Amino acid sequence: MSANIEFTKGSGIRLYTSHDEEYIDAVSGTFNLALGYSHPEVVEVLQKQVKDLIHVSSSFTGDLAADVLNSILEHAPQGITDGWMRDIIGSTANEGAVKIANKFNGKNEVISLSLSHHGQTLFATNISGNAFRRKSFSNTMQSQHAVVPAPYCYRCPFSAKYPNCGYLCAEAVYDYVEYGSSDHVSCMIMEPILGNGGNIVPPAGYFERIKQICEELDIVLISDEVQTGIGRTGYMFASEHFDMEPDIITLAKGLGGIGIPTAAILYKPEFAVLEKWEHSYTSGGNLLSLGAAKKTMEIVSREGFLQNVRDNGIVLGNLLNGLKEKFGHFIGDVRGMGYMWGLEIVDKDGAPDVKLTNRIIDNALTDHKLILRGSRYGFGNVVKVRPALTATVDDIEEICGRLDKIFSQVKTVTHASYSL
Ligand SMILES: Cc1ncc(COP(=O)(O)O)c(C=O)c1O
Repeated sequence: MSANIEFTKGSGIRLYTSHDEEYIDAVSGTFNLALGYSHPEVVEVLQKQVKDLIHVSSSFTGDLAADVLNSILEHAPQGITDGWMRDIIGSTANEGAVKIANKFNGKNEVISLSLSHHGQTLFATNISGNAFRRKSFSNTMQSQHAVVPAPYCYRCPFSAKYPNCGYLCAEAVYDYVEYGSSDHVSCMIMEPILGNGGNIVPPAGYFERIKQICEELDIVLISDEVQTGIGRTGYMFASEHFDMEPDIITLAKGLGGIGIPTAAILYKPEFAVLEKWEHSYTSGGNLLSLGAAKKTMEIVSREGFLQNVRDNGIVLGNLLNGLKEKFGHFIGDVRGMGYMWGLEIVDKDGAPDVKLTNRIIDNALTDHKLILRGSRYGFGNVVKVRPALTATVDDIEEICGRLDKIFSQVKTVTHASYSL
C-alpha cells in the first residue's frame, strides 16, 4: 500500500487529504477502529479528559479500570468473570495471558495454529504461527512452542473434506503432546477467526473438539480476540458465537473505539493469579484509554448495535458472494461473518495468486480511492474487507460497487494467470 498519501481528517469510514480528496477505508485502519474515524461521542470524552487530566499513575486509576472492566465482563462468555486492564497493546495482552496460564499450571509450552498472528514483541512473534516475522530473530528467543495446522477447510492441510475429516487439524494436538512436547504444555492460544492468516473461519464443531482435547490434556485455552472482539463478528465476543468456552480471552484493537491504544485480559476467576507488579506497563490503563474504552463499550452495547452488524454483515456477505459468482475465475472463496470478511484470490489452477491480490489492493487505492488490506501472514492471497462497525448499508454497497469496478478490470494474461 502506498504510504505517500497524507490524510488529515477522518469521519466514519471516510478519510480526507489536505486537498479534500475522499477515500473509503474498507478495513477500519488496522481493523482497530470499531467506531470508525473520530466518532464524535468518543472524541468528546477524550477532549474533556485531555483538558482535565491526561495522566495519573495507575495506582490511582484502579476504580475507573475496574468500572471499564466490569462493563466488558457484563458481555463476556459464561464463566469469564474477572480480568486485567494494565495493557496497551494486543501483543502484551497475549503475553500476559500466557504468563497467567504458566503461573496457573506451572508449565511452559505453548501451542498455537499455523498462519496465526499473536503480536510482534519477541515472545508474541515467537508463538505466532508464521515464520516471516521471526526469522531474523531466531537466535534471540526460543520459547517452547509448537504450531498445529489451522482449520483451513478451503486448503485443508490433510486434503480432507469437512464434515468427514474427523477434525484431523484438532487431533494434531495429541500428536504434538505425545511426540513433540516435554510433557509441559501449559496453554493453547488461538484466534476464533484467523484474521491476518486469511480470514479463516473454523467449521462447526471444531472448537467443541478443541475444548474437549484441552480439558482432557489439562491445557489452558486462550482465545485471542484482539481482532474478533468488541463486535467485529456481530457478537461482542466471537468465542461466544463459536461456543469456544475459553479460559482466558485477550482484547485490544476495537476496545479503543477510534484507535486509542488499550488492551485487556479476561479470565475465569481461578486464573486471577497475577500480582500487580507481574504484568503492568507505564501507560497501561491510562486515563485516555480507559475513557475511550468505556465510551466504546457503552456505544457497542446499545440496543440494536450488534444486531445491526449481524444484519448488515449478511448484506455484505451476500454482495461479496455475488462478486464471487461474477468473478469466480479468480475469486476462489468468500468467507466471514459480521464485518469481518475475506476474498481468496486464485490463479487458473486454484493456487494462491499473491501477485494479483497485491495488484487489486494497489489498484483499489490508486484508482478507486478504496483502502483494502491483504493477508501477508497467510499465503498472502486474501483481500480483507472489514469496515468500521458503524458502516451503513449504503457504505457497504459503495465498497462492493468499487470492488466490482476493480475486479472488472482483471484480464487473462497467460493460459495460467490473470492480471490487472
Ligand atoms: C489476532 C491478533 N492478536 C494480536 C495482535 C497484536 O496486537 P498489537 O498490534 O496491538 O500488539 C494482532 C495485531 O494485528 C492480532 O491481529
